[in-house]
Amino acid sequence: MATEHDINKLAALFAGARRITCLSGAGMSTESGIPDYRSSKGLYNTLTSEQVFDIARFRRKPELFYSVIGPLYLSILKAQPNAGHVALAQLADRFGKELVIATQNIDGLHQKAGSRVVHEVHGTMDTLSCQDCGSQALAKSFLNELGKGEVLRHRCGGVFKPDITFFGEQLPAAAFSASLDAMADADLVLVLGTSLQVYPAASLPDARRDGCPLLIVNRTPTAMDDKADMVFHDSIGELLPQVLAQMDHGAQPGSQRGQR
Ligand code: APR
Repeated sequence: MATEHDINKLAALFAGARRITCLSGAGMSTESGIPDYRSSKGLYNTLTSEQVFDIARFRRKPELFYSVIGPLYLSILKAQPNAGHVALAQLADRFGKELVIATQNIDGLHQKAGSRVVHEVHGTMDTLSCQDCGSQALAKSFLNELGKGEVLRHRCGGVFKPDITFFGEQLPAAAFSASLDAMADADLVLVLGTSLQVYPAASLPDARRDGCPLLIVNRTPTAMDDKADMVFHDSIGELLPQVLAQMDHGAQPGSQRGQR
């Protein structure tokens, strides 16, 4: 649990940085009601296995994907940002930080919270593409069918696949390359809510410059904890707002102003 001293240290670290790059994972959205994948209540330990997100399996049996993920898809489309998403967005809006978020999440909640520079390295659930003719559609036009777990099809008869990166597919090259550049350009790197077990996304923080501080906030230990300058096994939605409140306090008249 972060102490008051920790919060002050984090507030100083954030205030002193200008270009902040964040790699976020499913732990960012659990406080919005979206399950993560690998923790005890995660998707892979309750509903299904990673297999459901395997591209070869999807092409063979799309009904498996839609019957299992359809209802969850619906809750993801309806989910709202939590205090962690909002705090990140405020780093840019209130504190003038150049914030870039490389997210493994497909829920669009960083954008809903107001973050403007978000690279979705595992794609997005917001749109789907027909596997036969390539036509694209918005997921929100299929809310009924998703709720019933039905396979979504284009009028040409082709199956719609969500524009997410399935296991066995290449990551969106532009999003990944922009994320690498942002990591190399950062003067503070945050890793928030990811077990860092899926590559190449998990390798992104390694692209930071020598001497660039790395902060990890994750409820449970990650594969990169030993490389981090600071690690907090706390809830993101609880910790980040405390840090920003301290930054606000530090920026009060008569105190050393936070960098604008
Ligand atoms: N605050 C902080 N950490 C949290 C919170 C929270 N509120 N809730 C969960 N966590 C932590 C969990 O302890 C877990 O270590 O977030 C981490 C989420 O890890 P995963 O479930 O493995 O999710 P993620 O790392 O995003 O998975 C990466 O795997 O299946 C693929 O494409 C999928 O993008 C996903 C990728």
